[in-house]
Amino acid sequence: METQLISSGFQYTTLPRSYIRSEPDRPKLSEVADYHNAPVIDLGFGDRKYIVQQISDACQQYGFFQIINHGVSRDIMEKMLKVSKEFFDLPIEEKMKLYSNDPSKTTRLSTSSNLQKEKIHNWRDYLRLHCYPLDKYEQEWPSNPSSFKQIVRNYCIEIRKLGLKLQEAISESLGLDKDYINNSLGLEQGQHMAINYYPKCPEPELTYGLPAHTDPNTLTILLQDMQVTGLQLLKDGKWLAVKPFPNAFVVNIGDQLQALSNSKYKSTWHRAVVNAHKPRISVATFLCPWNNAVIKAPSELIEDESKPIYKDFTYAEYYGKFWSRNLDQGHCLELFKNSREI
Ligand code: OGA
Ligand code: NI
Repeated sequence: METQLISSGFQYTTLPRSYIRSEPDRPKLSEVADYHNAPVIDLGFGDRKYIVQQISDACQQYGFFQIINHGVSRDIMEKMLKVSKEFFDLPIEEKMKLYSNDPSKTTRLSTSSNLQKEKIHNWRDYLRLHCYPLDKYEQEWPSNPSSFKQIVRNYCIEIRKLGLKLQEAISESLGLDKDYINNSLGLEQGQHMAINYYPKCPEPELTYGLPAHTDPNTLTILLQDMQVTGLQLLKDGKWLAVKPFPNAFVVNIGDQLQALSNSKYKSTWHRAVVNAHKPRISVATFLCPWNNAVIKAPSELIEDESKPIYKDFTYAEYYGKFWSRNLDQGHCLELFKNSREI
């Protein structure tokens, strides 16, 4: 049987079997602490040096940070969340027009994570959109709600500007020229979006919205529901809940920046958990290298006489490998390590 969207409007009273994790693999929600020291970086405060220093500290310690005064207006953020909700509230027949399990499709609605590979499903539906170049993809996007294309277009333009600026600051924070990352990923670097919808879940202790994973791309900029928590990250072996901060985006380092920084910055494990009371929405923007960009650490970040930690690879090679595996099968970057000489 084809796996169904779970945002169908049907109210589940028990969790279907195919979503139940084995005992050791459950989220153990009572053991999760709040992420109290979460760095919230004010991009509008202090001189450049201070901002870059905060980014450097956050990337080394967590691989995650939140940003405020980021230049994206509150109106654009609110509209983006609202239209996402309106989309998932559409009748199931309308949504099914966009349904596909084929990861190569550039616009598709799907459920869980990687249905072809996974054994246990995740309590999530998602709309995945390619967003760059806009003129190429926008026509494929949903035309219902009628304001969807316009709102998402504006959001994508603003987020791209922000993402490229962040990559400049991250470059500087690694001691590189500010354009280093953007140049090596290609000015035509890709931009994708996943609008995640996590319905109310009858037994949130038994399953995940998204199990632990790292993001395969360069940088992820997440707009989270301001009222409902769900995102958690792994720090020193403990899961921490990332509480939404007003008007902030959550930024995290993806696998490509871990490789490019020669592992100075880590692509942190994170997951999304679900709850019994309220549906949750998040909008993840993924900046990705241009397909043929070669990902390699610059010599400045490699110690004398040693090899870079990872082999050179193209993003196309990496992405192919990523989708051929299950999400929680271990860090995909491990497959691209250079052998260590003794
Ligand atoms: C993702 C992700 C977290 C969330 O889409 O890769 O990690 O809170 N999302 O939805
Ligand atoms: Ni993620």
